[in-house]
Amino acid sequence: MAGQIPQRFIDDLLARVDVVDIVGERVQLKKAGRNHAGLCPFHQEKTPSFTVSADKQFYHCFGCGAHGNALRFLMEYDNLPFPEAVEQLASRLGLEVPREGADDPRAQARERKRQEGVNLLELSASFFRERLKMPEGQGARHYLAERGLSPEIQAAFGIGYAPDEWESLKRHLSARDIPEAVQIEYGLLVHREESGRTYDRFRDRVIFPIRDVRGRTIAFGGRVLGDAKPKYLNSPETPVFHKGRELYGLFEARQANTRLERLVIVEGYMDVVALAQFGIRNAVATLGTSTSEDHLSRLFRMVDEVVFCFDGDRAGRQAANRALEVVLPLMIDGRQARFLFLPEGEDPDTLVRREGPEAFVDRITCASPLSEFLFDQAARGRDLARIEDRERYASQVLAAIGELPEGLLKSLMLNELSRRTGVERLRFEALMARAEGGAGQPAEAEAASVVSAMPSAVKAAGTRPDRMPLGLVARILQLLVHEPILVERLPEADDWYPEGDPDVPLCREVVRLLRAGRYRSGQVLLAHFHGSDQGQRLAALVKREMLIPRDARAQELDGLVEHFRRHQRRPSCQERIDALLAKQHSGERLSPEERQRLMTLLAELGS
Ligand code: GTP
Ligand code: MN
Repeated sequence: MAGQIPQRFIDDLLARVDVVDIVGERVQLKKAGRNHAGLCPFHQEKTPSFTVSADKQFYHCFGCGAHGNALRFLMEYDNLPFPEAVEQLASRLGLEVPREGADDPRAQARERKRQEGVNLLELSASFFRERLKMPEGQGARHYLAERGLSPEIQAAFGIGYAPDEWESLKRHLSARDIPEAVQIEYGLLVHREESGRTYDRFRDRVIFPIRDVRGRTIAFGGRVLGDAKPKYLNSPETPVFHKGRELYGLFEARQANTRLERLVIVEGYMDVVALAQFGIRNAVATLGTSTSEDHLSRLFRMVDEVVFCFDGDRAGRQAANRALEVVLPLMIDGRQARFLFLPEGEDPDTLVRREGPEAFVDRITCASPLSEFLFDQAARGRDLARIEDRERYASQVLAAIGELPEGLLKSLMLNELSRRTGVERLRFEALMARAEGGAGQPAEAEAASVVSAMPSAVKAAGTRPDRMPLGLVARILQLLVHEPILVERLPEADDWYPEGDPDVPLCREVVRLLRAGRYRSGQVLLAHFHGSDQGQRLAALVKREMLIPRDARAQELDGLVEHFRRHQRRPSCQERIDALLAKQHSGERLSPEERQRLMTLLAELGS
């Protein structure tokens, strides 16, 4: 079976199969003009942006950019390595796959080694699992029980135990004819240059097998039972394991969920397993590295939404900033990234045990959307009443927006930046275009001059003196902060918000949070926004007296909504676009009709 597959055989194969058939067997396609279209299997979507061309023998998704021929499709969709995808296509046509130089000893050796690698990792995984059940595994069983992991969860993650001996795995593998050199190559055996001695890498540790998306063991992580150092030990880089690319728990998350919509990225093995123990089965962990683009593009192939989970300390903030940088260029429309900060001193494992899974899920639900995090982050440590600070704020946000791919999100963020700084959106666009032209520095300088040229009323907007008359939406906000339960009286549909009131986005966000059920008191709600412009705004509103008795508040709220409804004009095309964009921006999904409407409106606007 070893040896290269000749290119001409592959060409021939591709000429004889129809990509429309191959895809059509797995994805429901409809004829659409010369092409076929359907829902993209590589990202979650509600309206079809996936097309298959019989003429070109290609598929292409306008949503996520997935793209390729029949072979590529099989590799991606069925998760097959290239040779297996070729085998599969060939077998449809009843063809045998020829191999070049099948008797070339080097190719044979390569193939044998690959096979060995697979075998030895699986053999080792079952060895560790067995040992956990034996008398020698008692300490480890005790440790796992102490950490609250049931036998079911241990089994679901294939957790095992490496005995407290120097050569137990080595003996086990060598007895099965696996050469020591291979054991070393796959990181199971450590080789001491000086003495020439070899011994088991993992000893007296709880073992977490790391599996690829198809469930094949590719490496191990091992934790000490006590406080010894190092706490965790991972397999080294091997022919099948690249630390910066793999995620712990991905296979298990897919196993546990027929339809994954969101993945939560945590830091440690134990976090993944503990969350699973509490029924939260969509967490994955990077393996001691920060989240890379590789990680994220993988995750976004499977889900539309990722939630980053960070410690609440400074290191956590820094890690969040790095994650933000990595995720920005990947944020095509329809994808969401959110940022969750845990209370200081906690990790998901400790928190889910302390608070229970519902509270943890609430935290996930209320995690800051990327947009919010970005603005908050830029505002941190800055006094936005000061022009210089506001300039840096604007420059920082603008630089981040520049990293976003073209799309609705980018457009919305520009609107929001313009709203928050009072600088026209067009100016920001011009700055961004210039920055893209390669003149990064001057663009920043110009941002400074644009911001300092803002009309003084706009500059003062950040401070919002307490005596300014209250807008009507602000009044609603005030009612809600004082009495969150009132949110239940607001109409389900959010079509009542008036145009042009600067508090609308904040109000929507507050309503969303309250509806999500996490904030039952105004104080907690305030804490959520603490440190941001929005937080200042809310705090100012809370300080104002309510001036009307408690039992009249509900009526006032109803009256305000009624008032807005009566005074709604027929919105202009631009306004309707903005409203839809704002809706998507607030983290809600647009329905297919709304999406369609948005596309039509945008087309109208452009013509
Ligand atoms: P527990 O103490 O078992 O709850 O683990 P934790 O996940 O809370 O540990 P921590 O937050 O210290 O580490 C998070 C992740 O970093 C771990 O899951 C490992 O992947 C990695 N890590 C931690 N300590 C070490 C270490 O000593 N060596 C290596 N290679 N990785 C480590
Ligand atoms: Mn921990």
